Amino acid sequence: MTKKILVLTGGGDAPGLNAVIRGICKRARKESATGNEKWEVFGSIEAFNGVFSDPQEIVKLTSKRTAGIHVKGGTILKTTNKGNPIKYPVPQPDGTIKFVDRSAELVAKLKKLNFDAIINIGGDGSQKISKSLFEQGMPMIGVPKTIDNDLSATDITFGFQTAVQIATDSFDKLVTTAESHHRVMIMEVMGRDAGWIALHTAIAGGAEICLIPEIPYDINKLVKKIDNRYKNGRGFVNIVVAEGAKPKTGSITASVGDKGSEHVRLGGVAYQLSKQLKDAGCKAEIRETVLGHVQRGGTPVAFDRVLASLFGVKAFELATEKQFGRMVAYKNNTITSVSLEEATQVYNTLQKDSYLVKAAKGLGINFGD
Ligand code: F6P
Repeated sequence: MTKKILVLTGGGDAPGLNAVIRGICKRARKESATGNEKWEVFGSIEAFNGVFSDPQEIVKLTSKRTAGIHVKGGTILKTTNKGNPIKYPVPQPDGTIKFVDRSAELVAKLKKLNFDAIINIGGDGSQKISKSLFEQGMPMIGVPKTIDNDLSATDITFGFQTAVQIATDSFDKLVTTAESHHRVMIMEVMGRDAGWIALHTAIAGGAEICLIPEIPYDINKLVKKIDNRYKNGRGFVNIVVAEGAKPKTGSITASVGDKGSEHVRLGGVAYQLSKQLKDAGCKAEIRETVLGHVQRGGTPVAFDRVLASLFGVKAFELATEKQFGRMVAYKNNTITSVSLEEATQVYNTLQKDSYLVKAAKGLGINFGD
């Protein structure tokens, strides 16, 4: 009898999602051709919304649909960050949003569909959903995804290297103006409450200052550092600031609510930092760039294509081995798996006393601490 897998992508898109989907499908085709079992792979459109919708939006992932998709950004299955079945946003007549638990309804629908495995590709939030559905009897397998690299159960997530590359390319372009105009150029990058993208970009680009959520900064120390670089009226400074960076005193985080989303939206700290610097006496000319979603867009770099493809293959193999309740992971240069319990326990932020931070300081990068 042919076995069936359901694949879905949830949360923000990340370069490499399509490579995971293709990896699962190619490995399944190989197994069907040479192994003991026949497998078919299906995709639910827009995470679990494809299962909820009537008629359901579940497509068969044929070789025609998946050929060559590993080089494409985004996800052919579409995604949403407003489809958490445990906290599903339901618009109310008065315009407000009520969050309801639709997981029992989802489980009932999934049981009817009778999939032998369900592979959920997503970040922290998606893997918490995987864990909950596994506990409700579903054959869940997780694949970690996030450009923020904030999942502790895997050494690295696909999408991160692409984001860092895009940010570094952008940083290099801003250095030109900093040097030519003797300006302070502030570049804001994503990462939510983790400074991974910011610090990697700062090291790769050669920033003078890097501000990350894990190390609150002192605005007066930053002004002093900038002043020192502007002796004789000349100089320039390149700052990388993470969207979640925080000052030691006061607040800075720019955030707006996003209807239906469980998260606040970050973004815009570059402008606030600029104002803070001026208010604290910084005389230099300052310009701000908020990189935003370009960091998540376009084609994945080779590293992310490889990692994502291997994650896809491993996820399929976990399905054949019936290793449910586990998430694929990359640890110590090996593709392995961890329990969803372990996968969702710790948020992976930068440690102040880590070698990465110490080395960055050794390279002359100032954190404003
Ligand atoms: O988690 C990935 C991420 O890109 C964060 O770095 C960022 O804060 C957030 O998603 C943006 O989310 P959205 O696309 O919903 O605005």
